[in-house]
Amino acid sequence: MFKALPKTAEASTSPELRQAFESHLGETKGHVTRLEQVFQALRKKPKGQTSDAMKGLIEEGEDMVSNTEQSPLRDTGLIAAANRVEHYEIAAYGSTQAFAKTLGVNEAVSLLEATLAEEKKADEKLTELAESSVNQEALRAASVSR
Ligand SMILES: [Fe+2]
Repeated sequence: MFKALPKTAEASTSPELRQAFESHLGETKGHVTRLEQVFQALRKKPKGQTSDAMKGLIEEGEDMVSNTEQSPLRDTGLIAAANRVEHYEIAAYGSTQAFAKTLGVNEAVSLLEATLAEEKKADEKLTELAESSVNQEALRAASVSR
């Protein structure tokens, strides 16, 4: 997701949406660092592994971008795609945190809590943008072009 976010920001029309993606990119960088710290707390070495589910979600977003022009309508699709990614991340970090709790590794629990809070906030911010402006913008643009 860290690699996909700059393209997502660039594909956005709404400056607020672009800003939200750029700001989450910065947070996502921090999530990678926190994950490294979680591995340290567990005394394990991190290994890179591609998530097929995440890859699929990103591909769906890319397909939507290539099938739309830069427009408020595309923005609604970007938000919908990003909400799916955030929910997947929330589920993954949530179950990882539950494992850390079971193992009694409190440092990992706290690190994952911080990341979970940012993921939930990013998800809520996207929904708020959709409901407060982006969806209406898309509807207005569609009405004009009809
Ligand atoms: Fe995220």
